[in-house]
Amino acid sequence: MKLDATTALNVVIGSPVKHSQSPALHQKLYEELGVNAVMLAVENPDLSSLFQSIRTLNIGLTAVTLPFKTQVLAQCDSLSEEVKALQAANTLIYKNGNIKAYNTDVDGIKASLSKLDLAARSILIVGAGGAARACAYALKDSQASLFWTNRTLEKAQDLAAQWGGQALTLTQVYEQDFDLIINTTPVGMSPAVENTPLPDYPFHPKLIVFDLIYTPSETRLLREAKAAGSQIINGSIMFHVQAVKQIQLWRENNELHDH
Ligand code: ATR
Repeated sequence: MKLDATTALNVVIGSPVKHSQSPALHQKLYEELGVNAVMLAVENPDLSSLFQSIRTLNIGLTAVTLPFKTQVLAQCDSLSEEVKALQAANTLIYKNGNIKAYNTDVDGIKASLSKLDLAARSILIVGAGGAARACAYALKDSQASLFWTNRTLEKAQDLAAQWGGQALTLTQVYEQDFDLIINTTPVGMSPAVENTPLPDYPFHPKLIVFDLIYTPSETRLLREAKAAGSQIINGSIMFHVQAVKQIQLWRENNELHDH
């Protein structure tokens, strides 16, 4: 890549953000697409000053990671339909003085599940944060039966009330069978790779297990599911697709800085 006076600056914001894989993935995609841009990781706990920087430095694409996915909403000029429904964003597009929030995690989840026929299937979603809400949005037209479980049960109950389905305690989860289990919690993520949200779960060959985590590529949850014959899906497709979609949104909205 050649840096010059037309190179566009994109950023990823979060706190901490130094572990983020977004700059490396974006750089690879920019090269593949022939886009003259760089993505840098910016760490600053003060969101207002980050938003000011977007306007000052004319940053077209801002990827948003934890803990800002919901906090950014209050500072945006407009919100996409899915962000309004989810109250979580992973993408900010700056154009003509306007900062608009999008959620491309939804696209990543849909792509990960695109080969599955989910109608009339039972799906357990583990966790109740922004990623779980992105799953709810991605699955809203699937005609599947949703079940929710979470360390803090009230949050699972809130999701069941908003998106349909039933909240289950962890004990109930072990007593029931599902067609698909989706882990949206960070449990099992590097470096705490020996953790799992479902210890000693009775996985079986008819079950599909999708873990949104992509580091490691095979979490303990997926390793145990695979050993019992379940089909497994890791978070790498989701991570890739959410970034591709971010770049698409940015290029649709901004002057292209191609080589
Ligand atoms: P995100 O927006 O990425 O989903 P989040 O809002 O912090 O992240 O949500 C993380 C989810 O993982 C939450 O449901 C959280 O449970 P609580 O609602 O009880 O906080 C869950 N989670 C995080 N760490 C966990 C752990 N060690 N064990 C079980 N659940 C955990």
